Amino acid sequence: MSTPTAPVPRPGILDIAPYIGGEAAGTIRLASNEGALGPSPKAVEAYKRLAGEIHRYPDGGSTELRKALGARFGLDAGRIVCGAGSDELIGLLVRAYAGPGDEVLYSQHGFLMYPIAAKSVGATPVTAPETDLTASVDALLARVTPRTKIVFVANPNNPTGTFLTADELARLHAGLPATTLLVIDAAYAEYVTRNDYSAGVELVEKFTNVVMLRTFSKIFALGALRLGWGYCPAGVADVLNRVRGPFNVSAAAQAAGVAALEDVEFMERSRAHNEQWREWFSAEVRGLGLTVHPSIGNFVLVDFKGAASGKDDAEKARLFLKDRGILVRQMPSYGLPTCLRVTIGREDEMRTVVAMLKEFLAG
Ligand SMILES: Cc1ncc(COP(=O)(O)O)c(C=O)c1O
Repeated sequence: MSTPTAPVPRPGILDIAPYIGGEAAGTIRLASNEGALGPSPKAVEAYKRLAGEIHRYPDGGSTELRKALGARFGLDAGRIVCGAGSDELIGLLVRAYAGPGDEVLYSQHGFLMYPIAAKSVGATPVTAPETDLTASVDALLARVTPRTKIVFVANPNNPTGTFLTADELARLHAGLPATTLLVIDAAYAEYVTRNDYSAGVELVEKFTNVVMLRTFSKIFALGALRLGWGYCPAGVADVLNRVRGPFNVSAAAQAAGVAALEDVEFMERSRAHNEQWREWFSAEVRGLGLTVHPSIGNFVLVDFKGAASGKDDAEKARLFLKDRGILVRQMPSYGLPTCLRVTIGREDEMRTVVAMLKEFLAG
């Protein structure tokens, strides 16, 4: 073995394929699942009001925000832990509960931060196959071993838009050992209108090995501020509070988060907008002869496989849209190279995308 001539990172780090976020240099930005209507004006006001206070450290306990979350969702604020985006909480959970020799399990087309976080601590990411682009409880349970420390389920899942029902989630939990942590990543929960869906609160309330993660980056549209939260069993909250940075959530994020939560009307309008334009967009794109997978989030997967007129090249479609200032997300890193993921934006944006796809397919 040759002698290293520079510092060497821990095993696993150089196996990470860095997460590539959605592109941002375009006029219609539908590549990052950001809320279509932007943030509540009340959240923006709260953010601005902090301008004169940025020499102060934030409240390290995010006290007001946790109180507001507890009140809004009927949760015990003492078991809420806030983070700089739910990405930070994913990383902290993996750091706290997994390491070299351990396995972190997720489904085939699950959110890419799970394997990235696992590799960053030297743990082994393990995937379970999906059925019809949907996580399979049986396949996940079949891959649980004594080394499985965490099972991540994004519900609904990004990028597929599919979900496990509350009953299926409960069945997944029931099959796990008490020492395996089930992390239900419900980043898109606020968009969901189905009554067979649950973000997982009742499992967190009942068991010591279930965490629910949420974010302010999606329906609340505060992605730039980096704000997420987890609802945890007391033991897990205690662990997260030990490993997180003492001031991990900025004062601006905390203030904007509280204001966003108070603006219930704005959130409900955002949800209704999403439902209306997701269904409109899906129907229009199906009308163009493309496959649109059913989604309950604020995005859809458009599959170009088998498109009429031989226009079945998703990457060509993406570049065609990009040339016209429209950014959507490519999916090879998720093993879905024939698909593009399109975020549901404003009405004018969705109409433009449909018109451009029509032009692409005709050209
Ligand atoms: C399933 C899922 N979890 C977590 C995140 C991360 O969100 P945040 O901005 O809170 O870090 C995303 C963002 O795209 C996501 O899709």
